[in-house]
Amino acid sequence: MNILIKNGTIVNSDKSIEADILLANGKIQNIGNDLSLNDFKGRIIDATGFYIYPGGIDPHVHMHLPSPSGFSSDDFQTGGKAALYGGTTTLIDFVTPNRGESLIEALNLRKDEAKNSLTDTFFHVSPVEWRSTTHSEIRELIQKHGIQSFKTYMAYKNSVGLDDADLFEVMKAVAHEGGVVTVHCELGDEIEILREEFAKTDLPVPEAHLLSRPPEMESEAVKKAIDLARKANCPLYIVHVSSAQSLVHIAKAQKEGQIVYAETCPQYLLLDQSKYSCPFDEAAAFVISPPLRTKEDNDALWKAIADGNVQTVGTDHCPFTLVQKSVGKEDFRKIPNGAGGVEHRMSLLYYYGVLQNRISLNKFVDITSTNAAKIFGLFPKKGIIAEGADADIVIWNPTKENIISVETHHQNCDLDIYEGLEIVGAPEFVILNGNIFVGERILSS
Ligand code: URP
Ligand code: ZN
Ligand code: ZN
Repeated sequence: MNILIKNGTIVNSDKSIEADILLANGKIQNIGNDLSLNDFKGRIIDATGFYIYPGGIDPHVHMHLPSPSGFSSDDFQTGGKAALYGGTTTLIDFVTPNRGESLIEALNLRKDEAKNSLTDTFFHVSPVEWRSTTHSEIRELIQKHGIQSFKTYMAYKNSVGLDDADLFEVMKAVAHEGGVVTVHCELGDEIEILREEFAKTDLPVPEAHLLSRPPEMESEAVKKAIDLARKANCPLYIVHVSSAQSLVHIAKAQKEGQIVYAETCPQYLLLDQSKYSCPFDEAAAFVISPPLRTKEDNDALWKAIADGNVQTVGTDHCPFTLVQKSVGKEDFRKIPNGAGGVEHRMSLLYYYGVLQNRISLNKFVDITSTNAAKIFGLFPKKGIIAEGADADIVIWNPTKENIISVETHHQNCDLDIYEGLEIVGAPEFVILNGNIFVGERILSS
């Protein structure tokens, strides 16, 4: 089905232009003024008053993530649907092998789990240990399987976390083979000690979670990861940065010319740690790692986006239901960590970022799509509205108003950390590889 989009404003990360767009065979075939309608066979969308963005790319989601209290409650279908409703057409999820399992084997199993994915879906692969075969597996993944990025954890030492020596080996191997290492920065051993200590207190459970993961644990890990990456000459991407203290190390390394990218998430821009003072049933939704920080941290992260020190905003979408969260009602260490947000990312960043003058519209496209495409090897197929690119298109209604609620969201969860938040701006149409997935205003065909 060919689609002609008329009269919209195309917004890319570098500039905005008024032009029509012709989509054919899943690609953007033509961009121009007054593209002719003569003999056009297909659908015409009138985008007057709307913005046209490249499809959103969420570089950090965990669909169907196994945890001791069951899988995260969205799978690739339900989570993909929610993503599309929010204007995100591409997800980058994770391959997390069991220790002892080959990375290739784990990738194949994960691809099978994701085969019904509604979005385009790619993966970061996690080496969860250093073995004699790890380097050759990394090479094979890059050369034969198109994997670009390798996710490491400094936290979660008992399950997926790497110690510093193994992290360094992974960085050296990935650098040698031409990939990028992404890293969850929290000092794993120190956090385990704090968790044990706080488990012995009678502090309310969500507050114990907050206090057991202070911002220094993140910033010290960020500093260490940057130092190791510099020695290994490895491009580094730091996921879900939550604190101002971490930004200091990131900005310094970037200024010195090191390749260090930073990602934050809407929850670290818009929510703060006061949420942990609520009763368990309310506060449990916010038990995520790293935890929410202060309003000053929120502001520092917005500034870092505007200044170019933070390149991407992912969601770390990893929802758990109240029943799943309640497993830890008596022991905060048992609460599954994570929250959803894949559906709301674009609207939250548009309303609280663009409309509240924190970022420009072009920066919005940069952090929701273009930079992730560039960093993770998807550009220029994705991340840009240009002739020859994939026809992943969001036609954005800048005035549509909504209040976020579990009653109306598409995420498969009875909790929503953004419950009650006002948003303005939402997709009117979402097109993936030339197919319309979301949209009611098809004017002629
Ligand atoms: O709380 C979180 N973030 N859960 C998902 C796993 C991770 O650390 O990214
Ligand atoms: Zn993480
Ligand atoms: Zn994550």
